[in-house]
Amino acid sequence: MRIEGKTVLITGAAKRIGAEFARAFATAGAAVIIHCRRSRPEAEALAAALPGAGLHRVLEADLAHPGAAEKLFAAAGRVDILVNNASLYCRSELAVAAPELDREHFEVNFWSPLELMRCFAAQPGLSEGAVINLVDQEALQVSPHGGAYALSRRALIDATLELARELGPRHLRFNAVAPGPVLPPVGLEHSKMEKTLPTVPLRRRVEPADLAAAVLFLAANDSITGAVLPVDGGQHL
Ligand SMILES: NC(=O)c1ccc[n+]([C@@H]2O[C@H](COP(=O)([O-])OP(=O)(O)OC[C@H]3O[C@@H](n4cnc5c(N)ncnc54)[C@H](OP(=O)(O)O)[C@@H]3O)[C@@H](O)[C@H]2O)c1
Repeated sequence: MRIEGKTVLITGAAKRIGAEFARAFATAGAAVIIHCRRSRPEAEALAAALPGAGLHRVLEADLAHPGAAEKLFAAAGRVDILVNNASLYCRSELAVAAPELDREHFEVNFWSPLELMRCFAAQPGLSEGAVINLVDQEALQVSPHGGAYALSRRALIDATLELARELGPRHLRFNAVAPGPVLPPVGLEHSKMEKTLPTVPLRRRVEPADLAAAVLFLAANDSITGAVLPVDGGQHL
């Protein structure tokens, strides 16, 4: 599928990794819909700075609220490529009850992406299209303190595979990218990410540009669906 001329909806795209995706798609000639929650000023500044100024839009939605994903998609209009990138990340232990946080993880990391994928697939006349779900290499193994975050990522992987199978005959493709250490979580800049790098086979963090190249590759390649691609320096091993 040609990226040029297509419309891409990227959730959580105002900054960090999502902004890298927005830059990569805009550079490839796509119109980008930058979804944000709290980072509207950053999203507007990004939209104005992208190549193809005037093509890009900003939409706001809190994806922790049931029903918000459907409204977001309705506001987006026609979408050829969907990148589910927004996420909530808090470490927890499954044995310790944290019902509100558990539900929020599932709303943001699973139910909203699933709802966006359903809306994407329900677009009339869509003869080709691609969805790329950002997950985490952590979901490919059983990690300590993965908690509801890792569970919600695993559920999104399963949904990716199931939709790939169900909707392949309509030439709608569903793939996932599982990053390793790219950027420390916000507020945890001195987290254990630096400490884990010596245990990563490639001994380096993942460059956001490498992640963006993987997402673009999956969006463009018409023969790939149902893939979960680790872009993690081998961390899942
Ligand atoms: N960073 C890493 O090293 C790493 C490692 C493994 C996997 N990943 C995955 O890669 C993707 C990007 O990572 P990242 O670190 O750039 O993500 P991030 O900064 O933690 O989150 C991206 C955006 O998600 C949005 N978001 C959070 N809660 C939301 C909600 N309730 N409703 C709507 N939007 C919400 C935020 O938008 P606003 O700022 O507008 O509020 C935020 O900017 C994520 O899916 C993440 O799980 C990242």
